[in-house]
Amino acid sequence: MFRNLTLLCLSLLLLSACADGDTGKSDVSASTPSDAQIDVTPTPLPEPSEKVTDVAIDVAKDYHSLSNPEQVIVTHIALDLTVDFEQKVMRGTAALDYQKVDSTATVLVLDSKELSINKVTSGGQALAFTLQSGDSFLGSALEITLPADNARIVIDYSTSPQASGVQWLTPVQTAGGKQPFLFTQAQATHARSFIPLQDSPQVRVTYEAIIRTPKELLAVMSASNDPKTERDGVYEFKMPQAVPSYLIALAVGDLEFKAMGERTGVYAEPSILDSAAAEFEDTESMLIATEEAYGPYSWDRYDLLILPPSFPFGGMENPRLSFITPTVIAGDKSLVSLIAHELAHSWSGNAVTNATWRDLWLNEGFTTYLTYRIMEDIYGTDRFNMEAVLGYQDLEEDLNTLDANDQILAIDLRGRDPDDVFSNIPYEKGALFLREIEQKIGRDNFDAFLKNYFKEFAFQSITTDQFIDHLNETLLVEYADKLDIARIKQWIFEAGLPSDVSVPESDAFSLVDMARTKWLAGELAANKIQTSGWTVHQWLYFLNNMPEIMSEEKMTALDSQFDLTNSKNNEIAHSWLLMSVKNWYAPALPRLHDYLTSIGRNKLVKPLYRELSKTEQGKALGRKAFEQAKPGYHPLTVKANEGFVE
Ligand code: BES
Ligand code: ZN
Repeated sequence: MFRNLTLLCLSLLLLSACADGDTGKSDVSASTPSDAQIDVTPTPLPEPSEKVTDVAIDVAKDYHSLSNPEQVIVTHIALDLTVDFEQKVMRGTAALDYQKVDSTATVLVLDSKELSINKVTSGGQALAFTLQSGDSFLGSALEITLPADNARIVIDYSTSPQASGVQWLTPVQTAGGKQPFLFTQAQATHARSFIPLQDSPQVRVTYEAIIRTPKELLAVMSASNDPKTERDGVYEFKMPQAVPSYLIALAVGDLEFKAMGERTGVYAEPSILDSAAAEFEDTESMLIATEEAYGPYSWDRYDLLILPPSFPFGGMENPRLSFITPTVIAGDKSLVSLIAHELAHSWSGNAVTNATWRDLWLNEGFTTYLTYRIMEDIYGTDRFNMEAVLGYQDLEEDLNTLDANDQILAIDLRGRDPDDVFSNIPYEKGALFLREIEQKIGRDNFDAFLKNYFKEFAFQSITTDQFIDHLNETLLVEYADKLDIARIKQWIFEAGLPSDVSVPESDAFSLVDMARTKWLAGELAANKIQTSGWTVHQWLYFLNNMPEIMSEEKMTALDSQFDLTNSKNNEIAHSWLLMSVKNWYAPALPRLHDYLTSIGRNKLVKPLYRELSKTEQGKALGRKAFEQAKPGYHPLTVKANEGFVE
């Protein structure tokens, strides 16, 4: 996988030819600024894609970064980037301030992926650098010889049009259809595809940026955004709080702003601005509720950015500015738990951060727990119960299908691309674990613990093992009679669930169960099911729990009565389309094609492609949709689904 060839650059003039930014497959480009020594020694590098589970895991080590923060740590990044929509590249400079942790260190090692490095300077003087050959998902180590005075290092670079962390959209792929759009998605290991940096959640940096765009467009970042900024094509940002690299984010498009509350607002393309602001109008109340329970919000403003439908996630918790899929604008606030989730990350994740991707459950499990609590606070216990049951059912499905290793909260990801391991485990199993602690020690006590946890570890990155140490010093002492370290370790380090887990229940779902059972038994006609007043969650529960095999007659009866094929709710449509693929219900297939070609959110499309791939006729349909949709899909959605249509 590594091609340890050495390519020589004889002079600075040739430097730009050294890095092959288009493919990211540059071999080794080495430069010596003054003399031209030929170095033909291959650089021995570890094989990061090889599984090394026979070696004991170093829990503090980030196996997904090639950088060297244990020797030299980057503390601040100043970007000056020009966004070129024609070439689909960003080019400019990243200036890095750093501190030596090891006083004898002479080299700064950065992560990079598919970047062209033109030159590296400090105080105007060229610095020697080497760009190692790349690993498929970790990218290439960029090794820079430190200047004698430890002064700021400036890297002149450009991104590749194929950068895994950037999506370039043409005007037709946007709501307005007139202007192009760009957004970045850095989590987990993609910041390195648009900035050369130490791409590890253990390294926190403050940052500032100047972003140059076409004049008609607006740039926004996970930083201070001035809603009243003049649209002049030059935008300046400052992020004064130290953040991990996966939270650096940028979007550029025909965006407008609308306030929702004192500290909250939404950025979106003009045609969806009002509907987004109406859908998410409870954001300010959510912010206030979370602060009351878990301590002050540390990030100044909390705004939302609504992306085009190709955004590969539901949401991304970029600080001060969560990135949100438009697929949750349902018209009835039924899917706004996503906002509670991204907001909650302001405490769990953005303030207290997982130190490595093995510890992702510290981000997502805590956040999922908080999400349920925020939803209960704002919308009541019925909604909380329904969402908890649906979440538990998602978890059950993963527990039934995933390998034992992938059911573990503190998951061993050595040699694996974190993108390939995305599941409900860190989310729902993590939240269930925390809910058990809450139930054992009492809600108020657990809230007090959480509030203190967020305060004590604010702006730090912590490992699972540090969290266990913290439990040992706090709850396990205070509630020694109620909690048990062996069971806690079972939750964290073992597959499946411990015995006697308290399973969420919802009264609102009992009547749905009754209706479904009677209808399936032929005791109740579809038009006699009392669905008026059913919430989206009840519909989801109704559909998700239908038998795998349904007769054509049953499918037709449901569809004629409830017009499910044309459901405007993207989650309901997803459930129905999945049933339709499983049972090859032909009337829904044109809608399936439309769905797959208009939405790029992986959680919604991947199960459909997976199901389609199981039969020949399904595969043909999947292939057709994928080929049509591919130019508009995000690189992550392409990567996650291309295997299903081969
Ligand atoms: N931070 C995650 C998205 C993520 C996780 C990206 C891991 C890359 C690697 C975000 O907060 C998230 O969890 N999104 C979910 C939201 C849902 C659980 C409400 C999503 O996109 O589906
Ligand atoms: Zn999350």
